[in-house]
Amino acid sequence: MNQADNELLTRIGPGSAMGSLLREYWVPACRSAKLVADGAPERVRLFAENFVAFRATDGRVGFLQEACPHRCASLRLARNEGNGLRCIFHGWKFSVDGECVDAPTEPRAQREKFARSVPVRHHPTHEAGGLVWVYMGKEAVPPRFPDFEFTHLPVDRVAPYRGIIRTNWLQGLEALLDSAHVGILHGTNLDSAAGRALFQDESDLMLGDGAPIFEFDEQPYGFREGAVRQELGDNHYARVREVALPFFSFIPAAPRGSRIACCSIPIDETTTAQWYISYNADGPLSPNAISMLGRWSEDPDHFNADMGDADNLWHQDREAMAAGHWSGIVDRGNPYEDFAVQESMGPIVDRTQEYLGTCDRVIYRARQLLLDAVRRHQATGAVAFRDEVVDFARIRALSYVFPREGDWRTAHREYAI
Ligand code: FES
Ligand SMILES: [Fe+2]
Repeated sequence: MNQADNELLTRIGPGSAMGSLLREYWVPACRSAKLVADGAPERVRLFAENFVAFRATDGRVGFLQEACPHRCASLRLARNEGNGLRCIFHGWKFSVDGECVDAPTEPRAQREKFARSVPVRHHPTHEAGGLVWVYMGKEAVPPRFPDFEFTHLPVDRVAPYRGIIRTNWLQGLEALLDSAHVGILHGTNLDSAAGRALFQDESDLMLGDGAPIFEFDEQPYGFREGAVRQELGDNHYARVREVALPFFSFIPAAPRGSRIACCSIPIDETTTAQWYISYNADGPLSPNAISMLGRWSEDPDHFNADMGDADNLWHQDREAMAAGHWSGIVDRGNPYEDFAVQESMGPIVDRTQEYLGTCDRVIYRARQLLLDAVRRHQATGAVAFRDEVVDFARIRALSYVFPREGDWRTAHREYAI
């Protein structure tokens, strides 16, 4: 990749080409449970800008610029009362709909008129899947919400957990797309009791053929990637990942039971929120899914707070490696291993220095789709991957065994929803 394309894909601040495109999609801002009616506003940093999210008296969620429109005091300090945020500095008050509804420091005769004239930056929100989503784009009427399967589920069937990594969003996304590393970087985890429980005894299938054949089917929302492992006797084993660009990757799992959706959302150009959303459409979340979460630190808003950094090599344990652990990043599950290698590349990896192999086809493909999308948006304003035909609710990543004389696409249709 040349430097210009790397810049085009990774720069997401205000006014940037990629930033303008990415703002045209609904994105998770914070967990719904963080916001309590008349409770503390939550600071949300997205696309290198600062906001507050708050739940008003009537339960609705507002999303405002963090800086008070008067003289920029932080609205994190604001009083949350009577269906609005009231700045503690001069008492100006702002509604969920982004209107200034009171400016008590103005002369009484003109107070109402003055308040109405105050420009307040706010963005529409939507709550689903245990998350508050926000639309930060330019359209006056927000685009259709991407109602992925997990966004239809009751709260006891969805558990969103946020990791925060010190890298650009594209590094986060690319790690979520890269199936080739799974049996290597995560080899010890897959082979552990916790890994076996999580992957419902599919670990051996994953480890049984280290060089699966990858096939791609482009989809209106991005692409579907079939990874077929063949060296397994009478059967083949398919892991079919679904990628809903620009943010979401769905991890393949058995046709019934718990599954995980992941996404990589820019906080700023060198910080990224990596969400792991566990869900189960068939019943309550399984203890196995929860036990994976139980290996992380307590805070669902920053579950990897204890992961270390470049100075301590993310707590890599050389003794454990000598004793047989592959990565030396021990006992914390796959994301900690992913995050360590992602951060080790530097905040924005210099993609001109890479040397790609066959195993990187998916990475290459995703970059091409994103480059096409950003150029098309620059030229025509068109927004890729969210055409009206997309049925987001039916996107489900699957893993299954099928007879070796069969075809993964045919088998896939049997399990698809
Ligand atoms: S700075 Fe907020 S009301 Fe003055
Ligand atoms: Fe990984």
